[in-house]
Amino acid sequence: MKYALIGCGRVSGSHIKAAINNNLEIVALCDIVPEKAQALAEKFGLETKIYSDYKLMLSEMNPDFVAIATISGVHAEIAEYCAESGFNFVVEKPMAMSMAEADRVIAAAKKSGVIAGVCHQNRFNIAVQEMRNALEEGRFGKLSHGNINVRWCRDESYYSQDDWRGKWETDGGALMNQCIHGIDLLRWMMGDEIESVYGSTRNRQHSYIEAEDIGVAVVNFKNGAVGTIEGTVNTFENLEETLSVFGDKGMVRLGGMNASTIDVWKFQDEFSDDECKREIEEKAPNVYGNGHTSLYMDVKKAIEENRQPYVDLIAGKKALELVLAIYKSQLTGEKVTLPLEDFASSQMKNIF
Ligand SMILES: NC(=O)c1ccc[n+]([C@@H]2O[C@H](COP(=O)([O-])OP(=O)(O)OC[C@H]3O[C@@H](n4cnc5c(N)ncnc54)[C@H](O)[C@@H]3O)[C@@H](O)[C@H]2O)c1
Repeated sequence: MKYALIGCGRVSGSHIKAAINNNLEIVALCDIVPEKAQALAEKFGLETKIYSDYKLMLSEMNPDFVAIATISGVHAEIAEYCAESGFNFVVEKPMAMSMAEADRVIAAAKKSGVIAGVCHQNRFNIAVQEMRNALEEGRFGKLSHGNINVRWCRDESYYSQDDWRGKWETDGGALMNQCIHGIDLLRWMMGDEIESVYGSTRNRQHSYIEAEDIGVAVVNFKNGAVGTIEGTVNTFENLEETLSVFGDKGMVRLGGMNASTIDVWKFQDEFSDDECKREIEEKAPNVYGNGHTSLYMDVKKAIEENRQPYVDLIAGKKALELVLAIYKSQLTGEKVTLPLEDFASSQMKNIF
């Protein structure tokens, strides 16, 4: 299966490793700074074509599977182009910076029938999959509440690497960039359908960025359960990404730096293999985890089987919607009801 990557920055190594692990034929790399694509090819010993124009790359190389790992601000425009031109793709999170953009990408993909997914790779963490299986088996009973706490550290050296970081139009803040994986997991686990959200965001320690460095929210799910979100880059050092779900028959807390360990695993009805579950601790090379390889495996199979992937565009839109709803709540000072018809990260300009 012919594969091409658009955007060859920090996260691109995770994409190339996933492509290699899935025996994809890497036919081209593209970056508007072609030296970055060249350096990536050299790092992995790839003999592949290098492009600075993704449209030219797509038309000349005709890949079966395209990955979009550019800066967040151009995800939607490239994804929409791929969809309109009939290329299957995965796009990094967030899939877009506004609801209107997300809807355009989804409509274009639906029209052309391409296979398209979003890189919320933590859904494939072993611990997350175990939690999901227990949930689908009904082991939690009636859900009461859930929380996601993403407490990471990003300092000036991180934001000054690239001009797009921390800006409303191209990145957003801690919730849109760092916490969106956890926000996706919380929403997915707690029943997906949301009635309303109240959020508060601040910029407390990063005067040199536009967007929030701390965001908290209360989420009212349609099934009656409630959730809380805390996403920040203000901890003194990376502390945790912890996801907890509580029901009347069970409670699970996933922890570590990336919701990749099982810290608490307790159910009213103990199963014989529950003791082994308590020891799950997936080692990962970085905070991005191991999930890109599993996500690619699923997308490759989805292309072969002509079905949509496990983490599809609708999943990407739902995570984006929840982040944007928290932003809107901060902007208006009010509780925001979902669905969010339209809102863009850029509407937050000059709020702090
Ligand atoms: N899934 C994850 O765990 C994870 C982890 C890190 C980053 N990300 C996401 O991946 C994206 C990239 O992050 P990064 O840290 O690698 O950023 P980066 O700045 O290091 O890399 C982005 C690259 O995209 C290139 N680019 C920009 N516009 C382009 C265009 N029109 N065509 C081709 N190339 C273009 C830039 O030159 C740059 O090399 C972001 O959206 C980020 O949110 C996801």
